[in-house]
Amino acid sequence: PRVLVLNGPNLGRLGVREPEVYGHATMADLAVAAGKWGAELGLDVAVRQTDDESELVGWLHEAVDAGAHVVLNPAAFTHYSYALRDAAAQVTTAGLLLVEVHLSNPASRESFRHLSVVAGIATGTIAGFGFDSYRLALSAVAARLNP
Ligand code: DQA
Repeated sequence: PRVLVLNGPNLGRLGVREPEVYGHATMADLAVAAGKWGAELGLDVAVRQTDDESELVGWLHEAVDAGAHVVLNPAAFTHYSYALRDAAAQVTTAGLLLVEVHLSNPASRESFRHLSVVAGIATGTIAGFGFDSYRLALSAVAARLNP
């Protein structure tokens, strides 16, 4: 099974950006780690990041057309992008899994981070475990596919 691990704006700055919140590892480190976790779980994982809403929406359309499951860190789009939510909804209504992930725990941060407009259409959400949020998400996908 294919899984697209899609990351939204500013996540390409991991390692540089607020390391006290997001840690010292980079998006390149995440791509290597996620590929390894995927291989262990029998998943064909591709990791991508963009700062562009339109590109992220396009990748969600691609997941639907390709029958790929999605692990999505929508970053700040989480909190206000109805376009992203509508694109993500097409993934789950197609019967594919979509796990929303966050490195930090948005619920314990500023109030504008408390609302996720994506959460309601996601299969489930994992937040607050740093890079491990992605490992847990991939493991949830594998478990759901092979009960
Ligand atoms: C984030 C949390 C969001 O509130 C924030 O805008 C991000 C990263 C996280 O992974 O913790 O960019 O999605």
